[in-house]
Amino acid sequence: MTADNDDIRARIRTIPDFPKPGIQFRDITTLLLDAEGLRLTVERMAEQVRGPIDLVAGIEARGFLFGAALAVKLGTGVLLIRKDGKLPGATIAEDYALEYGTDRIAIHADACTPGARVLLIDDLIATGGTARAAVRLLRKAGAEVVQASFVIDLPELGGADALRGDGVAVTSLTA
Ligand code: PRP
Ligand code: ADE
Repeated sequence: MTADNDDIRARIRTIPDFPKPGIQFRDITTLLLDAEGLRLTVERMAEQVRGPIDLVAGIEARGFLFGAALAVKLGTGVLLIRKDGKLPGATIAEDYALEYGTDRIAIHADACTPGARVLLIDDLIATGGTARAAVRLLRKAGAEVVQASFVIDLPELGGADALRGDGVAVTSLTA
């Protein structure tokens, strides 16, 4: 994260007490609506990618947007990490705790070639519960998760550090 991304940060608004009292919700819809903001975000996430990538994995729902854009830029496909119950084929799933609740994510059991070098993408990391469950899932499928990249890191919630502790390189653009 660098001061250079103030232009991106300025396009993200914070809505207090959503979806629950006490949560400062980082709303990226304002960034997505802004053509220059969206372009800068995808460019800079792509610049942060280190090493060869075979596949991008995007986390539902907001991670799909940046994941697909990064995949096009890097010349890879995109693997969907979905909320459980949405994928039609045989799946593997993981439970996780959120900043505001619990959930379960899944991937198709055959979505990833064993040994594939995967870049994990989401809009935001808070507690890291979602991203860490995604890493467990991808590793179960035989992937090598080489990097996890986010638009926003909320460092006070410790998710990025926990993900680094799991052995994943973590990058983000802003707080
Ligand atoms: C948000 C966000 C991340 C996750 C981060 O998704 O897009 O996926 O929370 O929180 P964590 O680091 O504490 O796990 P959310 O679960 O709200 O789902 P949505 O994208 O479908 O709205
Ligand atoms: N997901 C988890 N915490 C969040 C927050 N503070 N803002 C937006 N999305 C989130």
